[in-house]
Amino acid sequence: MRVPHGLLGIEDLTREEIQEVLDRSRNFQPRDRGKLDLLRGRMVVNLFFEASTRTRTSFEIAAKRLGADTISITAQASSVSKGESLVDTLNTLAAMRPDAIIMRHAASGAPHFLQRYLDTPIINAGDGTHEHPTQALLDARTILDRGAALEGLRVAIIGDIAHSRVARSNVYLLSKFGAQIVLCGPASLLPVELQRIAPGITLTTNMREAICQADVIMMLRVQLERQHEASFPASEYFQFYGLRLEHLELARPNVIVMHPGPINRGREISSEVADSQRSVILSQVENGIAVRMAVLERVLRGVRN
Ligand code: CP
Repeated sequence: MRVPHGLLGIEDLTREEIQEVLDRSRNFQPRDRGKLDLLRGRMVVNLFFEASTRTRTSFEIAAKRLGADTISITAQASSVSKGESLVDTLNTLAAMRPDAIIMRHAASGAPHFLQRYLDTPIINAGDGTHEHPTQALLDARTILDRGAALEGLRVAIIGDIAHSRVARSNVYLLSKFGAQIVLCGPASLLPVELQRIAPGITLTTNMREAICQADVIMMLRVQLERQHEASFPASEYFQFYGLRLEHLELARPNVIVMHPGPINRGREISSEVADSQRSVILSQVENGIAVRMAVLERVLRGVRN
């Protein structure tokens, strides 16, 4: 299904559409404190059924910087906690005529399903293990800020691939731009079906092999909240899949280390790496505002470059 006005996933976007959002985001500098009035009089609802620090806050800041009004609702504070269905909740909010609903939900496909019932555009802020489109956009923007083109870039994505919507959205985006993608993690967390998205993708359980000559190392959190049984011995995870300073020597000299956050120090990444010169984790957070401003403008005003 293709929804022309919302943003459900990177899968739906063409390379040109992605490039337009990234280019437009350069007009919005998060350090500019001034408020624009590009979305004055518009209203955006932030509806989060899962915890979030970065995504929810940066969408709210982005909307406010563009002059829109925002309302944030969490699952606990909504009538879903009284048994209201998701469709009824969304229809109720849509009846108040917001211009867009930004939504995070634990069920993969929830925003796609709801968009069929709603005229209000939905922006997917993460659906289960499926997609997190604005994370992949801000990741691409962060890589490009380092001066590297995406084409031919070797990107190692390491960790809990199976439960990661960030990995899936990045695989869609990076493969559209011709990057060389290596997915790495314990065999139980390394789904081979991702090779269907990008046939040229490499899968390995060997972290050193994944990092060898990498331009970008993207670490992922182990998503224990989505695992119903142990997929690996937790006590040995850091030994085999935790990023340490010694690993960086295997990568290209100007490698960057990324992580969508929240990071678990000592589980998937050491503090020495997270706080090192090679880490761009906080640049990712900062770019999240500019990219989400570009997405909101595009969705609410239909602005193209
Ligand atoms: N990267 C990310 O989605 O972080 P939050 O869960 O804090 O929004």
